[in-house]
Amino acid sequence: MLRQEINTLLTPIHGFLHCQTPDSWIEAAIQPDNQSILLRDHANCELKASQTAMWLIRKYAVDAASGEQLLAWAKPYEDFVYRGVRDGIFHARKNGLSAPLTPKVGFAHGQALIDKMVRLIKEEFHHFEQVIEIMDARGIRYQPLEAGRYAKGLMRAARTHEPATLVDKLIIGAYIEARSCERFAKVAPHLDDELQKFYISLLRSEARHYQDYLTLAETIAGKDIRDRIQTIGEREAELIQAPDSQFRFHSGVPA
Ligand SMILES: [Fe+2]
Ligand SMILES: [Fe+2]
Repeated sequence: MLRQEINTLLTPIHGFLHCQTPDSWIEAAIQPDNQSILLRDHANCELKASQTAMWLIRKYAVDAASGEQLLAWAKPYEDFVYRGVRDGIFHARKNGLSAPLTPKVGFAHGQALIDKMVRLIKEEFHHFEQVIEIMDARGIRYQPLEAGRYAKGLMRAARTHEPATLVDKLIIGAYIEARSCERFAKVAPHLDDELQKFYISLLRSEARHYQDYLTLAETIAGKDIRDRIQTIGEREAELIQAPDSQFRFHSGVPA
């Protein structure tokens, strides 16, 4: 990707985020000791991104039969991560869904949510596979890793009545995607060639994921959501700038 294209992708992301990744996080990320944590946690983040999008579709947009289809799509990945079962091949792009999902009646934005989230799920599963391939080649075994505080901390900012919960969760999704994009771009120049290329290759889809989440939040809210974007953005920046005892892909300032 050309420098100019990277800058075009990053400009709105830097405008959306309230702070940049602190240099001390970058310093921790390039420590040899943290390389396997970075990759393992990155794999988790990609899976989590797919699962969250699936959960949103299942909760808000589709009937039970379509929900089952989504669960079947996720199964090989979850078997691998939670049960150590691996048939050697995942099927993100080949399998996907056996039939189009059916929007349930009564939710006006079901099709929009399905369309954007299905594309996102496909891409996140593909990213997951790419991380696992890199880990395989480096002899890093996938082992579960306790999740950091970041996503949980953001979710606490979501309001607890609908449709506000959905709108807030979509804004949170936008922040997670935007932060990932910013962090990939910032850490990439400090990594080896393969990871550098890989991280830069992720920028385009993560930048679109952030836009998609934000567009969905605005459409579904049907009103001005700038105050919610502001509140959640402040919370996000606090999590990124506060001392954090754990090193993770989205962790704060290394304590
Ligand atoms: Fe991703
Ligand atoms: Fe993403």
